[in-house]
Amino acid sequence: MRPEHPIVLITGASSGFGEAMARLLASQGCHLALGARRVERVQALADELQKAHGVKVFAGAVDTRHTASVDTFVAEAAAELGGLHVLIANAGLASGTYKMWETPDEDLEAMMRTNVEGVVKTVRAGLPHLRKAGWGHVFFIGSTAGHQPYEGGSVYCASKFGVKAMAHSLRLELNGEQIRVTSVDPGMAETEFSNVRLKDGAKAAAVYQGVKPLSAFDVAECVRWCLMLPDHVNIDEILVKCVDQASAYKLHRRS
Ligand SMILES: NC(=O)c1ccc[n+]([C@@H]2O[C@H](COP(=O)([O-])OP(=O)(O)OC[C@H]3O[C@@H](n4cnc5c(N)ncnc54)[C@H](OP(=O)(O)O)[C@@H]3O)[C@@H](O)[C@H]2O)c1
Repeated sequence: MRPEHPIVLITGASSGFGEAMARLLASQGCHLALGARRVERVQALADELQKAHGVKVFAGAVDTRHTASVDTFVAEAAAELGGLHVLIANAGLASGTYKMWETPDEDLEAMMRTNVEGVVKTVRAGLPHLRKAGWGHVFFIGSTAGHQPYEGGSVYCASKFGVKAMAHSLRLELNGEQIRVTSVDPGMAETEFSNVRLKDGAKAAAVYQGVKPLSAFDVAECVRWCLMLPDHVNIDEILVKCVDQASAYKLHRRS
């Protein structure tokens, strides 16, 4: 049975999509568990949302690359909030724009450990709580990079093709249970993503120059819509791009 106030765990809630999802879902009456490495940011967000919406919000430090960190975060969140119904495995990053043969180990490991292994660890730790509740929804945050590879993105694209594969596999594995599985796969969106990827504010700003990209709230709205649909409806995948972006290789710049 759908709970009146679903309890939603979000990784990567310190900025971008994760923060926007937290804001939107709190406004809809969801209780929240918010995690990221920058715990002071998620704590401040938790305090704000609790006051504004009267929902319960747990904030914790989590590094999704590490099993013990994820297990502790999930266990503490479930204990504090009285269970979990929704997992949003959002934490992720692109690091650099290297040709495949140039990719340093550090960037390779950051992307594969966060975008692939971190997602497995999050789902593995959280799923028993959804099963216990008998109602749940798992969200993967994929990317258009998981649909169309591009130069300079081999490892990031591989990681997001991996996310797509995991969403498909999990949906098959959970068939017969009341746990929905959705992958929300955005194109270009303005968050801290390009700052993290390019490590240069001016270069990051240039990515969006003359374009009206998706906002973090556009992506959060996709999650809200899938979550609020009746229980028998599962949206497998949402591929969402701004109007200016027709593909990884066709972008309309207005100036
Ligand atoms: N923006 C885009 O154009 C775009 C498009 C398609 C898909 N995506 C995907 O959307 C997701 C969110 O990205 P965003 O655009 O919102 O970027 P963002 O603003 O940089 O947010 C990324 C979030 O992930 C967290 N994170 C990164 N590594 C982590 C780790 N090891 N452990 C825990 N949290 C970690 C960051 O928090 P801390 O640094 O505080 O840990 C931050 O909260 C990512 O999976 C990204 O690949 C983004």
